[in-house]
Amino acid sequence: MYKAKIRGTGSYLPETLLTNKDLEKLVETNDDWIYERTGIRARRMASPGVGTSDLGFEAAKKALESAGMSAKEIDLIILATVVADQPVPTASCMLQEKLEISGVPAFDLGAACTGFVYGCAVADQFIRTGMYKNILVVGAEVLSRIVNYKDRETCILFGDGAGAAILSRAEPGEASEIFSSHLQAEGQLRELFEIHAGGTKMPNTPETLAQGLNFMKMKGREIFKNAVRTMGRCCEEVLQQNKMTADQVKWVVPHQANTRIIEAVAKQINFPVDRVINVIETMGNTSAATIPVAFDTAVRDGRIQRGDVVMFVAFGAGLTSGSMLFRY
Ligand code: ACO
Repeated sequence: MYKAKIRGTGSYLPETLLTNKDLEKLVETNDDWIYERTGIRARRMASPGVGTSDLGFEAAKKALESAGMSAKEIDLIILATVVADQPVPTASCMLQEKLEISGVPAFDLGAACTGFVYGCAVADQFIRTGMYKNILVVGAEVLSRIVNYKDRETCILFGDGAGAAILSRAEPGEASEIFSSHLQAEGQLRELFEIHAGGTKMPNTPETLAQGLNFMKMKGREIFKNAVRTMGRCCEEVLQQNKMTADQVKWVVPHQANTRIIEAVAKQINFPVDRVINVIETMGNTSAATIPVAFDTAVRDGRIQRGDVVMFVAFGAGLTSGSMLFRY
């Protein structure tokens, strides 16, 4: 068995900001309420005509550059998203076309906000078995297309963005390695976060569109409680599996759903909040993209260094959840 490591990272956020002040004009809310309850001041908006794979492509180019490799060396593309460019083909195939690496396998992965952690876990397994050497894992979302800007509970949270990582085989004796990853799902809690229409069960019709059933709908309070409970448990599981304690971890990079959730998870695992990466303020919740964007941001600003032990932890619609522990 081989070992995998994170070789390079990249991220991309559209420049256009939708601020809390902008939202005050769309729904009954205000900047102070949103910031106090979520930690968010602004989220990013992709321009009309820009798709998920376009954002993913920008993040992937930066990840390749930071890994010091060419796209031709990639053996597999995994793109985690809840909103592909179009129903068919996959956003990963569209990304492959943009990267000009025809031939290598490419698939989309649907695990909502946990998608990037699921993607890294899958990539880790392919590398461990020796099947592939270099895998591009992308989390990319254009959530603004599935947000109801008349629903004040959801429109304050979500934004667009993409993050990417190259997972590669670690050479013998290398310090960088992925220790393990843990994935879960609790389908019985699926109704806490859904888009009802637009799939096979309820295709979109003028009626579903008029009722806004094509948009995200959530039970915020229940999600909040489940998120804290689940992410806390995921952190503990991955630490136990590796016979480590929280004080041996340098950085936690959690899914960026809400600053209060992030702080509550840190408290639950007794981890100092100043070593938890939080970039939600000007990004919002970008679902599968939050962890790779947050990680890449902290690598580029010098907080996370090679050799640091890092933990990813995520939860999302499904409800899915997962964690990954590694030495960067
Ligand atoms: N502006 C002003 N008031 C609001 C707003 C708003 N945008 N939204 C709700 N309110 C009101 C409510 O109507 C309620 O009023 P009431 O007391 O008169 O009934 C009051 O504010 C409090 O509402 P709560 O829902 O209790 O507020 P809470 O503190 O729980 O914050 C929030 C709401 C921010 C949505 C929080 O529950 C949350 O972040 N939940 C998690 C959501 C999440 O992470 N979703 C995504 C997870 S899955 C994924 O990432 C794909």
